[in-house]
Amino acid sequence: MSTVDTFGRPIRDLRISVTDRCNFRCVYCMPKEVFGRGYRFMDRKELLTFEEIERLARAFVANGVEKVRITGGEPLLRRDLEVLIERLVAIGGLDVALTTNGTLLPQKAEALRAAGLNRVTVSLDSLDDETFRAMNDVGFPVARVLEGIDAAASAGLAVKVNAVVKRGVNDDQILDLARHFHGSGHILRYIEYMDVGGTNGWRLDDVVPAAEVVATVDAELPLEPADENYRGEVARRWRFRDGGGEIGVIASVTQPFCGDCTRSRISAEGRLYTCLFASVGHDLRAVVRGGADDAELHDFIARIWGRRSDRYSEIRSSRTAELPRVEMSYIGG
Ligand code: GTP
Ligand code: 5AD
Ligand code: SF4
Ligand code: SF4
Repeated sequence: MSTVDTFGRPIRDLRISVTDRCNFRCVYCMPKEVFGRGYRFMDRKELLTFEEIERLARAFVANGVEKVRITGGEPLLRRDLEVLIERLVAIGGLDVALTTNGTLLPQKAEALRAAGLNRVTVSLDSLDDETFRAMNDVGFPVARVLEGIDAAASAGLAVKVNAVVKRGVNDDQILDLARHFHGSGHILRYIEYMDVGGTNGWRLDDVVPAAEVVATVDAELPLEPADENYRGEVARRWRFRDGGGEIGVIASVTQPFCGDCTRSRISAEGRLYTCLFASVGHDLRAVVRGGADDAELHDFIARIWGRRSDRYSEIRSSRTAELPRVEMSYIGG
């Protein structure tokens, strides 16, 4: 039986952040002025252990969760991540996915595949090396992320590519990205730049609306709309008319999708958030470390989800903009 919230939305997805650290400092996510020297990242002992994560995942599955996504920070910085993947796959019947910046895929792809992972989502905002280096702000070359994508594909992992589009920064890359991934078998998704967290200095003017992205691609590579794969899918799908695959757009600013939002999130230290834009989380780690049995854990999650009424993207306004929010690198997007 699925646990539902006050709007009748079932809990279907669990996104688990396994670290708040990252080897990038993307300007829209971990700006150096805030996440530079002196920023206090979590200590090792604050992190949920793999045993604790598995236990929690099972309690979420008992509440109706069908998909688990591992996020960060950069999740592949967490040592032996493939061991966690193996444990989550062993639960059975779960779609297990991973969001990564791709930098460690050349070393890690084979082990992840061997652990039972079927797919990865790689963040890649630009094919132009100069723009890419400026956006990750650590001078990381784009060629090495492309190597990571190739390593994932060679290992037998299905690949999606996520590109956040920021006006005046990489909007000139929209077509190049489409051309590059057209016919590649990888699904490219464009993400509207969002006002997540409190440090990226977000302005509405920086957002390139999904409709504009679709029009830009369609002008050179004609598109047609495709049906959603499952209820509540975040990305709207568009197929290349020539059979070259598909793209997606994630329009959380111009076309919010809270109505079907079935996503729960846990931070690396075990706080449960019922919305990407929530200001407070619920301390699952305290419940687990306090000795709760499986039934108590299940009921704790059910109670929180049962009270949920979040729909931030639908009510986004000047008033909501002032509320405190957790950072994307803390909650994993
Ligand atoms: P699939 O399982 O492949 O369909 O992936 P997905 O689209 O559910 O997940 P993914 O992590 O690739 O999501 C892509 C991006 O969409 C995230 O990095 C966020 O920027 C945004 N996003 C995902 N979920 C939400 C959400 O619940 N609310 C908002 N506002 N944005 C979201
Ligand atoms: N707006 C939209 N997407 C974002 N991401 C990080 N910050 C933002 C933002 N402000 C995305 C990354 C990556 C995922 C972890 O979250 O590009 O795909
Ligand atoms: Fe790291 Fe991803 Fe944030 Fe970039 S968007 S800083 S890769 S967590
Ligand atoms: Fe779900 Fe909150 Fe995103 Fe709306 S803003 S789709 S409720 S996570």
